[in-house]
Amino acid sequence: LKILSNGKGILAADESNVTMTKRLDSVNIKSSPENRLLFRETLFTAESMRDCIGGVILYDETINQKSSNGKTLPSIISDSGAIPGIKVDTGAKDLANSLDEKVTEGLDGLRERLKKYYELGARFTKWRGVYSIGEKYPSKIAISSNAHALARYSALVQESGMVPIVEPEVLMDGEHSAEDCLIKTSEVIQKCFEELIIHKIDLSGIILKPNMILAGNKSKNKISNEEVSSKTLECLKKSVPNEVPGIAFLSGGQSEVEATENLNLININNNTDFIMTYSYGRALQQSALKFWSNDINDIEGTQTIFNHRARMNTLAAQGKWSSELEKKKKKIYLSYFSKQYLSSILSGFKKSTRYWQDSSISIET
Ligand code: 13P
Repeated sequence: LKILSNGKGILAADESNVTMTKRLDSVNIKSSPENRLLFRETLFTAESMRDCIGGVILYDETINQKSSNGKTLPSIISDSGAIPGIKVDTGAKDLANSLDEKVTEGLDGLRERLKKYYELGARFTKWRGVYSIGEKYPSKIAISSNAHALARYSALVQESGMVPIVEPEVLMDGEHSAEDCLIKTSEVIQKCFEELIIHKIDLSGIILKPNMILAGNKSKNKISNEEVSSKTLECLKKSVPNEVPGIAFLSGGQSEVEATENLNLININNNTDFIMTYSYGRALQQSALKFWSNDINDIEGTQTIFNHRARMNTLAAQGKWSSELEKKKKKIYLSYFSKQYLSSILSGFKKSTRYWQDSSISIET
């Protein structure tokens, strides 16, 4: 699969307008179509798109938008050598008879929508089922209804000539242990494959997008990164059929460096034939977004930060990342900011203070 080879990963830029508004609100930027476009266009034209990003997942609004130079966003992505994709589910809704849980909708009219997205340039798709862990959860109803929907979605996507990303996300929210996460995630993934096989999906033409095995975010018993990698590999080895070519993890609320470090260890310890890479949303965009919000016209600065994150993850997807390389980030930023500082002195001392202040925002260790 071209999307995932040679350490390349996927940029998940498919936040719905509601989610994107939350992200932009958090950095005090107005969530207008223009601002959403500007941030995304900034990422899609970054240098690392060429060597790190194999695919970009778009949202309905974005796939229909045109950039400042009149090009469509799918064509900008294709020009960089990456493949445009599209989120096609219409969101997680309350599940009847288990109202604390969700079932993902979007099958009605999907065949027609896929045709339209194909014409707009999409060549792969995403559908996310979401499950939470609790005493009684995920219930059998949630596990089977979401698996069924993922299989029907995948069948329609393959019929339309595109590659489905199958994303069953077991959320990290809660007090549960990593062992619970391992048991529940394995059950969820196994049920997905049971349904995919019933629906005659060509497993060699899908990408699985799972969560890593982590203790709940409110658990008192966190596990080490090494244990995250061994439990994640254990889960996938016993749950994923060998025909599946690639696995691209979601970040799910991990910090940027945590998501990179865990992916790196998974690849170092990978004793399977699966490609293991990233399909990150927050863990690729967080610090770039923070930086961008200080000056939405600073394209170069925002891209510098995004490029570094993409490169770190591409190294991790090959088991070649190290904390020393991560720390070089400081140097990259500082040299960038010094350059800006100098040029601002030369051009009348306009932005100098601002850039030095901004630099501290991005230098998180
Ligand atoms: P995160 O990496 O932020 O979890 O997003 C990935 C994604 O596509 C969720 O559906």
